[in-house]
Amino acid sequence: MKKRKLGPQSGKLKRATKFLVIHGPNLNLLGAREPDVYGRVTIEEINAGLHEEAGACKVQLEIVQSNHEGDIVDLIGEARRKFQGLIINPAAYTHTSVAIRDALLASDIPAVEVHLSNIYKREDFRRTSLTAPACVGQISGFGKESYFLALRALVQLARH
Ligand code: DQA
Repeated sequence: MKKRKLGPQSGKLKRATKFLVIHGPNLNLLGAREPDVYGRVTIEEINAGLHEEAGACKVQLEIVQSNHEGDIVDLIGEARRKFQGLIINPAAYTHTSVAIRDALLASDIPAVEVHLSNIYKREDFRRTSLTAPACVGQISGFGKESYFLALRALVQLARH
């Protein structure tokens, strides 16, 4: 059987593959916000780690954070023209936003939903994600690693 290499150099990527990372509401407060749930990692540390990992995988990232549902809808709507994939932590909008779900469904690029915490281990209302069914998959519960796992998943999708 042929072995499939899984390292950052394996497979072929289209030149200048670009992914968009969207952090939803209140994620700008990471580090100070409910550290018992989300840890002490800041959004700047997550972003720096993502850029580093993206460099190793030879992809480019644009990273944005917004507290506003309509802005997130606009970003997703415009993403198809500029990006080949999307990583999104919709934060509280995960559980409420039909508008973000519809924007993801309308977009023809693959999206991976991420959560720092395991949303299935918390309050009942967090167990429903309106947005995950509009994504290729969801990664939940690995702290900042959730983002890095999502990036690897998108890189693999773009290659194969
Ligand atoms: C979160 C989980 C959501 O339920 C919550 O509203 C957030 C963060 C997470 O990353 O664990 O803001 O998306």
